[in-house]
Amino acid sequence: MNVLVTGGAGFIGANFLRLLVPRHAEHRFVNIDALTYAANPKSLAPIEDAPNYAFERVDITDADAVTAAFAKHEPDMVVHFAAESHVDRSILGPKQFLRTNFEGTFNLLEACRGLWGENTEGKLFHHVSTDEVYGSLGAEGFFYETTAYDPSSPYSASKAASDHLVRAWHRTYGLPVKITNCSNNYGPLQFPEKLIPLMILNAHEKKPLPIYGEGLNVRDWLYVTDHCEAIWKVVLEGKVGETYNIGGHNEKTNIEVVDALCRLVAEETGGDAEALLALKKFVKDRPGHDMRYAIDASKIEKDLGWTPKETFETGMRKTVRWYLDNDGWVQDVRSGDYKKWIEANYGDRGGEK
Ligand code: NAD
Ligand code: DAU
Repeated sequence: MNVLVTGGAGFIGANFLRLLVPRHAEHRFVNIDALTYAANPKSLAPIEDAPNYAFERVDITDADAVTAAFAKHEPDMVVHFAAESHVDRSILGPKQFLRTNFEGTFNLLEACRGLWGENTEGKLFHHVSTDEVYGSLGAEGFFYETTAYDPSSPYSASKAASDHLVRAWHRTYGLPVKITNCSNNYGPLQFPEKLIPLMILNAHEKKPLPIYGEGLNVRDWLYVTDHCEAIWKVVLEGKVGETYNIGGHNEKTNIEVVDALCRLVAEETGGDAEALLALKKFVKDRPGHDMRYAIDASKIEKDLGWTPKETFETGMRKTVRWYLDNDGWVQDVRSGDYKKWIEANYGDRGGEK
């Protein structure tokens, strides 16, 4: 089977490819990615020479480039990760979020329709989405697959819009689609603008730990490879036209997360936990900040038998260890040196955004 993955040089996409390319020699994986600031192609070093893997630098907002990639690689299946993913950036500049998340998804859906036509037996468009489309919960309750959409940020609104497109292409054109809506991921290869890698690195470097508002917002944390395994399970065994919520049963306030990370960084480096905890700094809240996310994952658990392997404790320790052990990757991402590498390696294959 030809599996076309979008956004495979980002955090979740790269973890997905690193897990599946070695495991599935019978499938050919093609990764199309624009290589934005959030991508580091070096994250793909372990698989870049695999015979069943190929990379193309493609911007999904460029409909002609998407069509050409589809004509060349003839995917049977698309797993769509590519997105602008960071809420704070969407508040500062929403336009690119609409272009990539909405228009980019539209281009992919149209490319599938163009390539497959009526011949959709065995074909699939899998859309990777977020629990943020459901908005915010109060102190009680969970997000179900049936929860009404109520997005708060430009990011979540653009993802909600993309989910609607995917369902509409299924109902109107009969495109075989599946959607997964997942809670907050953490783990190796995450760009250090997100809470967990930011806090690990700042604590390690004894820099302030900026916590929005009172730090009482709750997120439901899931280790990234548990998310990747869940997506693959839905791809292989989920029902066409259905949505599956994915979550970790790890509801924590942001303060609980930051405190746990300070203690872990101290333990793993032989440092003083109290000194790291003293770095916490409460800063101006994020506008439209959702209070609480919590996923009811009973559909994927009961129907497909998926459960997460990592607990919050095991996953966090692995993540802290990974960031401490991979200073080269971190410095590369931070200094922007990887951009020079991208120019040298891909400069003639498409324009940098
Ligand atoms: P990320 O920001 O780390 O990576 C996004 C990737 O998409 C990058 O490789 C980037 O280069 C690529 N990309 C961006 N714009 C592109 C474009 N126009 N054309 C082609 N490629 C483009 O994101 P992530 O955290 O890995 O998230 C992946 C997907 O999972 C997103 O759709 C996101 O909404 C969803 N999701 C993320 C989380 C989370 O906690 N990170 C949770 C649930 C769902
Ligand atoms: O729920 C899934 C979503 O999780 C994904 O769809 C998004 O792509 C992903 O970015 C993530 O969104 P969040 O906004 O929840 O993640 P972030 O890491 O930005 O923030 C997590 C929490 O930590 C949130 O309540 C805001 C808070 N925070 C974040 C940062 C960066 C801080 O208090 N300080 C910070 O510096």
